[in-house]
Amino acid sequence: MRITLRLIAALLVAASLVVAVSTYLQVRAETRKLTEDLARRGSMLADALGELAAAPLAARDAAELSRLVQTYGGREGLVGVAVFDPAGVALAASASLTPDLRAVQLLAPRALGPEGRVSRLVRDRYIYAVPVRDEGTLVGVLAVVRDAAAIRTTLSRMWRHNFLRLLSHAVLISLVSLLIIRWNILAPIDQMTGWMKQIRSGETSAAPPVARGLFEPLASEATQMARSLAAARAAAEEEARLRQQGQSLWTPERLKEHVKEKLEGRPLFVVANREPYVHARQGKKVQVIVPASGLVTGIEPILLACGGTWVAHGSGDADREMADAAGRLPVPPEEPRYTLKRVWLTPEEEEGYYYGFSNEGLWPLCHIAHTRPIFREEDWRHYQAANKKFADALLEEMGDVRDPVVLVQDYHFALLPALIKRRRPDARVALFWHIPWPNPEAFGICPWQRELLAGMLGADLVGFHIQFHCNNFLETVDQALECRIDGERFAVQRAGHLTLVKPFPISIAFSEPPVRSQAEPSQEALRKALGATARYLGVGVDRVDYTKGIVERFRGVERCLEKHPEYQGQLVFVELGAPSRTHIKRYQEHMNEVEAEAARINARFQSKDYKPIVFLNRHHSHAEIEPYYKAADFCMVTSLADGMNLVAKEFVSARADECGVLILSRFTGAARELHDAVVVNPYDTGQTADAIRYALEMSPDEQGRRMAGMRAQLKENNIYRWASRLITELAAIRL
Ligand code: G6P
Repeated sequence: MRITLRLIAALLVAASLVVAVSTYLQVRAETRKLTEDLARRGSMLADALGELAAAPLAARDAAELSRLVQTYGGREGLVGVAVFDPAGVALAASASLTPDLRAVQLLAPRALGPEGRVSRLVRDRYIYAVPVRDEGTLVGVLAVVRDAAAIRTTLSRMWRHNFLRLLSHAVLISLVSLLIIRWNILAPIDQMTGWMKQIRSGETSAAPPVARGLFEPLASEATQMARSLAAARAAAEEEARLRQQGQSLWTPERLKEHVKEKLEGRPLFVVANREPYVHARQGKKVQVIVPASGLVTGIEPILLACGGTWVAHGSGDADREMADAAGRLPVPPEEPRYTLKRVWLTPEEEEGYYYGFSNEGLWPLCHIAHTRPIFREEDWRHYQAANKKFADALLEEMGDVRDPVVLVQDYHFALLPALIKRRRPDARVALFWHIPWPNPEAFGICPWQRELLAGMLGADLVGFHIQFHCNNFLETVDQALECRIDGERFAVQRAGHLTLVKPFPISIAFSEPPVRSQAEPSQEALRKALGATARYLGVGVDRVDYTKGIVERFRGVERCLEKHPEYQGQLVFVELGAPSRTHIKRYQEHMNEVEAEAARINARFQSKDYKPIVFLNRHHSHAEIEPYYKAADFCMVTSLADGMNLVAKEFVSARADECGVLILSRFTGAARELHDAVVVNPYDTGQTADAIRYALEMSPDEQGRRMAGMRAQLKENNIYRWASRLITELAAIRL
């Protein structure tokens, strides 16, 4: 209230000052105007009367002078006329002039001096005196006195008028200020205070009530703070619960402490092609996009927990403007916890290294999904150069950190470990391969297999998701290179360097209790948005990639509807397909296949308000995907080949209600861990159709049992455990 009063008082003082100064200037101008008018008229009359009085004055004709002053002294607006001899002695004056005669007497004789005519405003009288000459001789002075009371009246009317105006402004200013303060400041503060109290006491997790206006930045900061508080509270509760139960699950806090101890406080370095935050231009705005990538889902929680540096390709069209001159920026943008270092590639480098060698060569080579790998010499040269470029960027980031620990990610960087080790033998380098490793015969078709393997074996530790891929890798190395395989330790000894090869099944940041997301649409709302009146909802979430078995999945739905017509009109399958690597011809063809297959199947079964397959072909954020996971009766992951597939784990993580069924391809790494999924061979359409029906008819009890089993598995084997194992293993290696 005191602030309100102070603000209003300050506004009023400012308004009063403005009105006072402007009125003063107005009054001064008006006075000048009225006085000039009096002077003009006084001068004309005095001149005219002076001429009439010249002769009688020269003759000292008192009677004539008296007649003159009486005759003209009574004119309208005139108070009177007076005549003086050259010595300043009054010779005649109008009777009405008596009260003012003294003032006239004091002024009039000055007209005899060098000034000549004189005039003055004395109280309400305007006196104008002129010297009178008769044939050139000064014979006296004539003064006319006009009534000037009108000036005072006009001026005081002006003051009064402006004062009233000020008064009305003051009332208006006070009222408007009060309302503005009330609506725009006090009410939002009240709401925020109430919200903060509720947040503090844990009564709500909703967004702050103030989303716009003056308090928007504050509200957004408060939201971040509330989120951190909620996360810290949940972590503390979880820790307490675990202590209580004598368990020791891996949490971000535990990982942080563990890494601190293992790395003796040194920072962690990660190199991965895909960046966790892409800045993309959308009209005039810059949007932050979290890309659809299992790698980002897996790796980011580790950096969020432990801090460090993530070296990645800056692929967004607004990436440069959001980073500093060295390509660095703190992330996540809303609450920075680690550094993202962006490496810039030319379009030719990106074409050759990323699209060409990595994704037209190595990707189909490692995923046996019947797309022929393409190996071009030019792409290989770009791949080598890009690996070198990333190595240089990483070496620069590492600076003089002694014994740095580096986690290199994926098939984009097979050459990086050796490049790093050559220049920093003190570095501990792990390479984690997120995709499958095929058998030696399949891998052997790569013209540069020896160079790739030699680059990889620069690492101290090479990790795959499953033992099967480790075995394939060891066999490949054995057949392609001169080296010694240590079958007991699962290691490769080559040119005096030892590389351990081990499985580390990657996971997600499973959280329990689940993080409550705000304003999540209900299953009903979701169905409405899809235009689905159907009873059952199935979901698939993928990058649109030929390894994901999306077409096979659609055919499974088709076969199910064929075999079990009772589900026609009742079952809707939603595919959230993020466009991926669309620059590559095979991906464009695949996108067309997926669209055509959905259209073909829909044409068979659709009616006015039903179609069995909804293909939502765009990027969906985690927040957008989550409600689908929660609403689905089943989730289908039908990859033809997949290192792990974290979508399967995300679906399980979202189902805190222990409902819903996971249909999972046996060709995923996840199938080795999630034994309670309904496992299928996606090439077997009939089996997939049966699995869908089985899922739809599964009793709630069985769903609960299976889901609880998978959740317990995930809870134990989360991404923090994965990172702790990898880092412990790496730190234990004797260089
Ligand atoms: C796979 C790869 C990741 C990659 C992701 C997305 O999961 O193993 O390294 O990040 O696909 O692919 P993209 O080409 O879009 O990075």
